[in-house]
Amino acid sequence: MFSGRLIIRRVLQRPSLLKCYNFRRASTWSTAKSWHLLPALSAIAVTGGALYVWSYAKSRLYEVHSAEEKEREQTRKFEGKTVLITGAAGDLGSATAKAFSQQGARLVLCDLPSTEATLKQLLTELLSLGSPAVICASVDVTNIEDVKRCVQQSVEQFGGIDILFNNAGIFGSSASLDQTDEAMFKKIQDVNVYGVFLMMKYVSKEMIKSGKGGVIINMSSVAGLRGSKWLFAYGASKFAVSGMTRSAAKSLAEHKIRVCALAPYFLEGSLVDGILEDASDTVYGGAMTKDQLESFVQKVSPVGRVGKMSEAAVAVLFLCSDEASYLTGVVLPVDGGLTA
Ligand SMILES: NC(=O)c1ccc[n+]([C@@H]2O[C@H](COP(=O)([O-])OP(=O)(O)OC[C@H]3O[C@@H](n4cnc5c(N)ncnc54)[C@H](O)[C@@H]3O)[C@@H](O)[C@H]2O)c1
Repeated sequence: MFSGRLIIRRVLQRPSLLKCYNFRRASTWSTAKSWHLLPALSAIAVTGGALYVWSYAKSRLYEVHSAEEKEREQTRKFEGKTVLITGAAGDLGSATAKAFSQQGARLVLCDLPSTEATLKQLLTELLSLGSPAVICASVDVTNIEDVKRCVQQSVEQFGGIDILFNNAGIFGSSASLDQTDEAMFKKIQDVNVYGVFLMMKYVSKEMIKSGKGGVIINMSSVAGLRGSKWLFAYGASKFAVSGMTRSAAKSLAEHKIRVCALAPYFLEGSLVDGILEDASDTVYGGAMTKDQLESFVQKVSPVGRVGKMSEAAVAVLFLCSDEASYLTGVVLPVDGGLTA
C-alpha cells in the first residue's frame, strides 16, 4: 500500500514534476504547459501529506499499543495457565504461589490438612492481589487417593494442569549414617521421594491426555547434588529427586513435558529455623552448636549469606516460562555459588 511518505518521495523523484516548481524562485514556473498540472499536483501533495500524517500517527499508535502489549506479556506470563503447588502452605510454596499469581496464573494449592488455616490465609491474600482463581486442597502427597482426587479436581475446575510445582518435603533431622533412625529414614523417603513420584505420575498422565504438554518442577537440594555427612536421610531423598527428574525428563520429552528441579542451599525460612531451633543445643549430630551452624553456613557460602525465598521462587518461574523451552532434565543449583 502507498504510504503518504512514499507518495511524496515518488513525486520528488519525478523530474517532469519537479521541473514544474522551482523552490528557489517560487514565483516562476518553468514551462507554460506545466500549469495544467497544478491542480493534480496540489491534490497529490494534500493527499500525500494527509496519508503521511495518518500513517505516522498510526505507526505511533501501534508502537504505544505494542509496548503496552509487550509489558503486559512480561508481567502476565502465566495468564491462562493452571499451576498445582504441593506444600503450598510452607515458605517456598507460598512465596512461589504469590509470584505465579502476580503473573496471572490459576492456582491449585495443596498441603496437609493440618495447614488448613495457613492455606486459607494465603487464599485470602492471593484473592486480594487479584488472583484469577484459586483452589485449596487437603492433600497428603504420600496418599495415592489424595493425589488422584486432587488431580481430578484440578482438571474438573480448570480443564487441566499446565505446571506442577512438586515442592512438599520434610527435612527430618540432621544425622550421619550411624545416627540415622530407621523410622525417620523411611518417613523422609516416603514424603520426599514417594510423594514426588506419585504427583509426577498422576499429573503427567493428565498432561499427556490433554496433548498440550506442560512443565514439572521438583524440589531437590544441594544435598541432592553432593554428599553431606550430617544429612544422610535427607540427602538420600534429594539425590532420588534429582535422579527422578532426569529420568522423567527423558521419558516425558516426547509429550512436550519438561521436567526440571531446583537445588537450593539454605534458604531463610522455617525449615532452616527448624534446624536452628532443634530441641537440643547442638546440630549435625552434636558436631556444632546452633550458633556455629549459622556462622558456618554464612562462611561456606561464596556470597556469604543464605538465600531468600524470593530468589528461589524467581528460579522456579523462569524454569516454568517459555523462555526456558529448551531446558529439561536440569537440576538447577540456587546456592550462591556453593556447588560452583
Ligand atoms: N528451605 C530451605 O533451605 C530448602 C533448601 C533446599 C531444599 N528445600 C526444599 O524445598 C521444599 C520446600 O521447603 P520449605 O523451606 O518451604 O519448607 P516448609 O517446611 O516451609 O514447607 C514444606 C511444606 O510441605 C508440606 N508437607 C510436608 N509433608 C507433606 C505431605 N506428606 N503432603 C503434603 N504436604 C506436605 C508441609 O506441610 C509444608 O507446608 C522442600 O522440599 C525442601 O526440602 C528447602
